[in-house]
Amino acid sequence: MRWQRRHVLSTEDWSREEIELVLEQATAMLEVLARPIRRTPALRGRTVVLFFAEASTRTRMSFELAAKSLSADTSIITASGSSVEKGETLYDTVRTLQALGAEIIVMRHAASGAPYFVAERVSASVINAGDGWHAHPTQGLLDALTLRGALGDLAGKRVAIVGDILHSRVARSDIHTLVPLGARIALAGPPTLIPSAWREGSAPDGVTYERDVERALDGADAVIALRLQKERQEAGLLASLREYRTAWGITEERAARLRPGVPVLHPGPMNEGIEIDAAVAHGPRSLVERQVTNGVAVRMALLYLLATAGAGAAERLDELAPAAPPTEVPA
Ligand code: NCD
Repeated sequence: MRWQRRHVLSTEDWSREEIELVLEQATAMLEVLARPIRRTPALRGRTVVLFFAEASTRTRMSFELAAKSLSADTSIITASGSSVEKGETLYDTVRTLQALGAEIIVMRHAASGAPYFVAERVSASVINAGDGWHAHPTQGLLDALTLRGALGDLAGKRVAIVGDILHSRVARSDIHTLVPLGARIALAGPPTLIPSAWREGSAPDGVTYERDVERALDGADAVIALRLQKERQEAGLLASLREYRTAWGITEERAARLRPGVPVLHPGPMNEGIEIDAAVAHGPRSLVERQVTNGVAVRMALLYLLATAGAGAAERLDELAPAAPPTEVPA
């Protein structure tokens, strides 16, 4: 299949084939990242702008590394320190980015839907790096790549997603990416942090809500712990953080009851000792660091596909030639 999309806003309406195409391309990118010189000239001369209007460490660095590994020209704009602080509108900011030559705009924004607003108003491609509670498609894809690496084919595999589902764009994008690959999702979390319709029997296809964490973990082939989104909480949704850990945390004791080899993932940043114990986060089941590496590969894949769309990108994997070695700097 050929890549057709101009933007990556959500994987909600993606086919299984599209998801597979990105995962296959990302696997090729992992090979580039394993080379002594982690760079290919595929996007030389192309301009990628990272517009991050909300806090981020790993997603931003991951996109930056991805763009640089493809030799793209890369600029980063954050809300603080840019004209956004002076009250410039989102529209004016992105039109400026485009006028400055951005061909791909990677954006993170606290408002759900912001990347859609931008995609309708610029000729650049837009990649959503997280919008409010809504979607985080590259996280869904990197979690799929990580789970495939650990479990192989995801058909019929049971993935438990535990924690603050209500505020989690990661949970939504994981569902939209893993279910088309055949996985079944068991959600667990405090009832106040689960969308009410999902609790009342109308969860999306392939998704079930479990009343307690033990039931969700029972028979799980993989576990994804989610960050408690304290910044998005209204007062009163939780009794206390200690009770949260007792009731919903992926504690050492709970992890010890999983079948051998069942991996634990977390999108980061982690609240260790709340939704996940440090011993689990850094223990033998943890794929957290693998997720970070896979994130770079998935973002390289998407940048590459968007930049070469229409040119038969999927057939051009062999063109990922190694970059010329750096020339010696004279002493
Ligand atoms: C997530 C995010 O920002 O949505 N982090 C990430 O991108 N790695 C998850 C979170 O903030 O909890």
